[in-house]
Amino acid sequence: MKAYVVDKYKKKGALRLAEWQDPQVQNADILVRVHATSVNPLDSKVRDGEFKIFLPYRPPFVLGHDVAGTVVKVGPAVSRFKVGDEIYARPRDLRVGTFAEFIAIHEDDAALKPRTRTMEDASSMPLVALTAWQALVDVAKVKPGQKVFIQAGSGGVGTIAIQLAKHLGATVATTSSAKNAALVKSLGADVVIDYKTQDFEKVLSGYDVVLNSQDSKTLLKSLNVLKPGGHLVSISGPPDPAFATTLGMNALLKLVVRMLSRSVRKKAKSLGVHYSFLFMRADGRQLEQIATLVDSGAIRPVVDKVFPFSQTPEALAYVETGRSKGKVVIKVQ
Ligand SMILES: NC(=O)c1ccc[n+]([C@@H]2O[C@H](COP(=O)([O-])OP(=O)(O)OC[C@H]3O[C@@H](n4cnc5c(N)ncnc54)[C@H](OP(=O)(O)O)[C@@H]3O)[C@@H](O)[C@H]2O)c1
Repeated sequence: MKAYVVDKYKKKGALRLAEWQDPQVQNADILVRVHATSVNPLDSKVRDGEFKIFLPYRPPFVLGHDVAGTVVKVGPAVSRFKVGDEIYARPRDLRVGTFAEFIAIHEDDAALKPRTRTMEDASSMPLVALTAWQALVDVAKVKPGQKVFIQAGSGGVGTIAIQLAKHLGATVATTSSAKNAALVKSLGADVVIDYKTQDFEKVLSGYDVVLNSQDSKTLLKSLNVLKPGGHLVSISGPPDPAFATTLGMNALLKLVVRMLSRSVRKKAKSLGVHYSFLFMRADGRQLEQIATLVDSGAIRPVVDKVFPFSQTPEALAYVETGRSKGKVVIKVQ
């Protein structure tokens, strides 16, 4: 099969279109013919080697974290899917590789794709929708009537997180540039702050939840908009000790992680608010619930551009500009 491969960890390193071995189907795997995949900033970070300490992919490996496609074979222990099913998934860490014609995925990581949406739309959702779900539902436990601040509302995560927070009954504030204000309003944002001309810290106060996806300066400022008891969930770091424990890091790495998050944890403590780092995980059951929300119209995917498979490197470069609106999709079949 054809696949886009990382030959060595390198910042902005080129992807190689390779003739690659067909995936091996393990007991509980489904083999999926990839119709579409989408790009996440995580792809570039993995290629650059930023995450190799805790995601030790051994080059050469196939890149790509999102997929929508058709099941063409099932392992003997598979119980939830059959050949012909149309699924979408974010395969679990260390088993990614969706920039390819086929991928074998553990059945627990997949769900039937939203019925009402194309393969391209479906492929845009898994990683960002799971991130929004795990931040807002699992960690922050957003309740109706709460106030939620979602940074970068026009991004892949932001476009879904705004809609999910509204569905959960929250009032939503977001940051966006003026050119994307209409988009984030159409997704349900109640308060839109132009991050180029306004300081969100001066506009927002008394918030229950912040979803942080920006730099460390923004992270520290975000703590100030929370009310006591509020919760800041960061998906852009720094990792916290709970994350180190979940990954089973050794004592030295745990210490490093503790130091990295020391200032934010200290400031959070002094303000009486909670700080959590989230690194999203694969979860097919959550994708089932997300598909229901998509089919009911509560959440719609936002796709900026669709690239052909032959332009996978261009799709990655486009996302790396940091200016994409919603998601960038790659049509494989
Ligand atoms: N920990 C996890 O599990 C996890 C999961 C998913 C993502 N992430 C991380 O979260 C971050 C966001 O991911 P993403 O997929 O949403 O990225 P993305 O789609 O590439 O974000 C691009 C969007 O961000 C907006 N933007 C850029 N700078 C901004 C700023 N200072 N304020 C407000 N908006 C800004 C841009 O709008 P303009 O063009 O208007 O500037 C653009 O629409 C990345 O660092 C990613 O790696 C982490």
